[in-house]
Amino acid sequence: MLDLALEWLNLVLRWMHLIFGIAWIGSSFFFVWLDNSLRKGADQQPGVLGQAWLIHGGGFYFTEKYSVAPARLPPELHWFKYEAYFTWLSGFFLMGVLYYVGADLYLIDDKVLPLSQGEAIGFSLASLALGWIVYDLLCKSPLGKNDAVLAIVGFVLLVAAAWGYTQVFSARAAYLHVGALIGTIMAANVAHNIIPNQRKAVAQMLAGETPDPTYGKQAKQRSLHNNYLTLPVLFAMISNHYPVTYGHPYGWVILAIVMIIGGLVRHFFNLKNQGRGLRYEFLAIAFLLTAGLVFFTHWDPRHRDIGIEVTVEDVQKIAAARCTPCHAAKPTFDGIAEAPKGVLLETPAELRRFAALISQQAVRTETMPPGNATEMTEEERQMLGAWIAAGAKLD
Ligand code: HEC
Repeated sequence: MLDLALEWLNLVLRWMHLIFGIAWIGSSFFFVWLDNSLRKGADQQPGVLGQAWLIHGGGFYFTEKYSVAPARLPPELHWFKYEAYFTWLSGFFLMGVLYYVGADLYLIDDKVLPLSQGEAIGFSLASLALGWIVYDLLCKSPLGKNDAVLAIVGFVLLVAAAWGYTQVFSARAAYLHVGALIGTIMAANVAHNIIPNQRKAVAQMLAGETPDPTYGKQAKQRSLHNNYLTLPVLFAMISNHYPVTYGHPYGWVILAIVMIIGGLVRHFFNLKNQGRGLRYEFLAIAFLLTAGLVFFTHWDPRHRDIGIEVTVEDVQKIAAARCTPCHAAKPTFDGIAEAPKGVLLETPAELRRFAALISQQAVRTETMPPGNATEMTEEERQMLGAWIAAGAKLD
């Protein structure tokens, strides 16, 4: 019953996280697009930075952006912040249900570092907080005055964090933590910089003063960072379902390259919307890097397709010892209510049916068993690999 409740909680939190995330990223994309699409109008009032006409849902919209603020505060002002806060909160609780409650399965990998559940959770929480503090200090330091230098230093630190996580957590948890770290920085940018700066500007206007433009500038810089971080953070989240990424021995390198790809694609669209032309070279480099990743993941220092003879009976024995505690019609493993993802590995026919997935999860990568819960050996992985490479024959 508790297992089922946790499964539902996982699903509902994931659903919420997705919805809030769409609302946040959708509005963020919209405002970046709007900012980039502003042009000077002939009839524009002093103090107005630019204008844009839009058509959507059968109506015309006219928007103007002020360089600093309008002369008077309008009676009704719409703020955009809850999308960010709720995305972070739902994501945090989802991570808790999956990676903290299920730490032994998902977070900890004894082969990487034998941590207790408490230690692993402590490290996870501390790393997220530290990541934000380091980033925030960096932006406020003299380095933060130069956008290009800041971007390079920030990128190097993120890649270092990605590598660091792979030295502490399971490969899958390492990827998720890079996503969580970026997401935390993005949400904290909204909560601790963008919104407070907007509040200060509004307070100055209420006091009859002209708002200090530095508040807007600071908020704009953080907003720009969030813009470039959006695509990488989404990748880090969805790649959790693709062991071809995090399961590679150099998974952190893959993530580093994806961050560059995401940044390039974002940059292409930013330039396009600013009316600075279609700079296809950025998309071309992104495409080449993606193709490069296919080759990179094909290359794997662990060779497991050795030419030994393996029968389906051998494979069934391995599966019975290492997989069916979970992947059975009636799982016996504590905390597993039903066969995960409907993957049953009890009969020869089932093993054959899931051969490609078994190869992906337990041969090419060590994603399964999670946290190597059933202590599968290297030799057994090689045997599975040999059976599948020879065509997963049933006789
Ligand atoms: C301790 C329980 C446990 C054991 C043991 C286990 N698995 Fe899994 N398996 C899971 C869970 C949990 C998932 C779902 C993971 C997720 O949510 O992405 C899963 C998912 C899978 C999937 C589907 C992956 C996908 O995303 O489509 C395959 C294939 C798989 N396991 C194969 C294996 C093989 C092969 C073994 C034995 C070598 C094994 N598992 C051992 C718990 C286990």
